[in-house]
Amino acid sequence: MSIYYVPDTKCFIIQSHAFSYVMEKDEKGVLHNIYTGKHLTDPENALCSLSHITGNFRSADVFPYREEYPCKNSFTFDPYCLRARFDDGTEDVRLIYKSHAIGKTKDGETLTITLRDSFYKFEVDLCYRTYTGLGVISKNAVIRNCGEKSVTLCDFGSGAVYTFRGNKIRLLHLGGSWGAEYKKTYSQVENGKFAISNQRGTCASHQHIPFFAADGGTANEKHGEIWYGLLHWSGNFKLEAEVNQCMCPTITAGINNEGCKYVLKCGESFETPLFTFGYTDGGYEKMRETLYDLQYDFLAPQNRIKKPFPIIYNTWYPYEMDVNEENCIYLVDKAKDAGAELFVIDDGWFPDRCGDQNVSGLEGLGDWFCDKHKFPNGLAPVADAVHKAGLLFGLWIEPEMVCEKTGLFNEHPEWVLGFENREPVKTRNQMVLNLARTDVLEFIWDTLYRIITEYKLDYLKWDMNSYITACGNALFDGNQNEIPVRYINNLYELFGRMNKAFPKLLIEVCAAGGGRSDYGMLPYADRINRSDNADPVDVLRLHEGFCEFLLPRFAGGAGNIAKNPSMHGRNVPLDYRAKLGMTGSMSIGMNILKMTKQELDELKNYLDEYKNMRNVTQNSYFYVLSSAFENHVTAWEYLSRDRRKGYLFIFCHGWVRSEDIILYPYRLRGLEENRKYRVNGYSIPFNSKAQNGVFSGSVLMNCGISADLRGDYRAAIIDFEAAD
Ligand code: DGJ
Repeated sequence: MSIYYVPDTKCFIIQSHAFSYVMEKDEKGVLHNIYTGKHLTDPENALCSLSHITGNFRSADVFPYREEYPCKNSFTFDPYCLRARFDDGTEDVRLIYKSHAIGKTKDGETLTITLRDSFYKFEVDLCYRTYTGLGVISKNAVIRNCGEKSVTLCDFGSGAVYTFRGNKIRLLHLGGSWGAEYKKTYSQVENGKFAISNQRGTCASHQHIPFFAADGGTANEKHGEIWYGLLHWSGNFKLEAEVNQCMCPTITAGINNEGCKYVLKCGESFETPLFTFGYTDGGYEKMRETLYDLQYDFLAPQNRIKKPFPIIYNTWYPYEMDVNEENCIYLVDKAKDAGAELFVIDDGWFPDRCGDQNVSGLEGLGDWFCDKHKFPNGLAPVADAVHKAGLLFGLWIEPEMVCEKTGLFNEHPEWVLGFENREPVKTRNQMVLNLARTDVLEFIWDTLYRIITEYKLDYLKWDMNSYITACGNALFDGNQNEIPVRYINNLYELFGRMNKAFPKLLIEVCAAGGGRSDYGMLPYADRINRSDNADPVDVLRLHEGFCEFLLPRFAGGAGNIAKNPSMHGRNVPLDYRAKLGMTGSMSIGMNILKMTKQELDELKNYLDEYKNMRNVTQNSYFYVLSSAFENHVTAWEYLSRDRRKGYLFIFCHGWVRSEDIILYPYRLRGLEENRKYRVNGYSIPFNSKAQNGVFSGSVLMNCGISADLRGDYRAAIIDFEAAD
């Protein structure tokens, strides 16, 4: 990507091999978005794409008015990012160019365009950053009150994306509900508005992900123009897509302003979260390739993402909350023998934690010390046993929470979110701490620092099992409306401090399973709990939806090799469950204490196979050859980013001749046409004997290879590697 300014045409240009982004300041100084799309050879001449630009509302009724950072004012009716009320009641923001600066960072280039209101002392920095070699841009806004009197921000979006001009767009978005997250949904937007949003405070990626991919209705995996975007935010968000009367589709992204106003006093500023967006004409798979490169090379923790993530065994599967020193130590060697590399004590290790359903009335969250009855000598004996066995040691915590009968609540009832004259809101018998407060932030940080050092942790599973619905606090010393934003910023502050103080600590982000699967968490996460649902048929869709925007290597879950029967009572052979587990970040979800020697030996073999392949699968692209959302046979290709080595995973959960016979063969994607690849494990339909051979990329991508997988719950892995 390169960024430059062309004085002749007054254009700002952000240019990559795949993508051009052009802004122009008009004679009044208003900054317009001229073009967002396929690479232009002469982007400075893109001005013809808007037939007219005007600040006159009569003309705005006829011609598209694409303000780069659209504001609510008196002469447009179009979607906006910023609505601000000045002290005298004026709710009309008119931004014009003030200055700009182009710079460099270790990741790429930056552009800051400062706009100022034409009357009030009020400024907005539009900040753009690029990533070397990648066709995506991240942008956000820093909104500044330079006047003496307060300004109230009523809406404060991160930015807008304008696609092609046409009368409709189709939006791919992801969402669902607990246990059924990431459902791919396509919504048509035509002559009106469509929105997805979160008002649950946080942990709402069960319902909606702040992600969209817009196209004209015909894009598919391999072909088509797509404009896509993601908001890096784990709190309330909104994405709105509108096709206006000028047939100008606009998509805005930002924090959800519902119930949230931000007051900027004299000299104060507000920074919006990052909004990353891009364009491709190569279909969804090209979009994913770019998003994957972005995560591997820039967004994920760079000191940890290059290493394979270890295989987890978690006490939750044999014991749930019934953990103690003796049973944990007993389990360590068994977990090691089964093939695990990281031993995790889940929920239940702190005082009075017997359950979450008010059986005892004591549920302990908040008092983050070992239960003296369960762990009379603290956690050190378990940590030592784990380390002695050569495994890593990890712990579960849910630090944003407090239960009523705890020392913490006794001492600080004022730390809980809620309204004074209303019953406290409880989910799972627990209440949410007001992390918008600095004293709560410092309490959680002291707790984290203490347990990570004292218990010699290599891994931390950070859980959060509630929404934030009572977003008030009579005793909060700030503006109550600011809680939703301050809460999330302080959450990131805590994760950031952990990254800094413990750079090797592996972090799993979990929120009742998949409630925090978003780009806000990416700088801190090594693993993201995909879902609490590990049923092997449901996981096919969960994983495919998750991988639409997140790396497969992040995909943790309720045991990636699921227990049997599954939570839905489905009986599925170990071979199928183990191969499915290999597609994500492996954990053993079974009670290994109840497995026979033969089952354990089989499990170990699968885990050895996984250990051999994970260097590739954890640093690869992901292609959907047959979608779990459409077929009984799912086929996913994992291809190393140097395009030399890969695996084709095929899962058949119920073969139907009339439909699935046509799925043979699977045409690979992303290979080099002229390179020869050695292929192991393919088979010819109606002949299950596995075969090997050497084929060109061209043959593999055009003729394809097959696997004979008739029946129910059959799985195959075909591997291929460059032969030279
Ligand atoms: C919800 C998580 O998703 C589970 O993995 C487990 O850690 C439980 N919480 C513990 O309470």
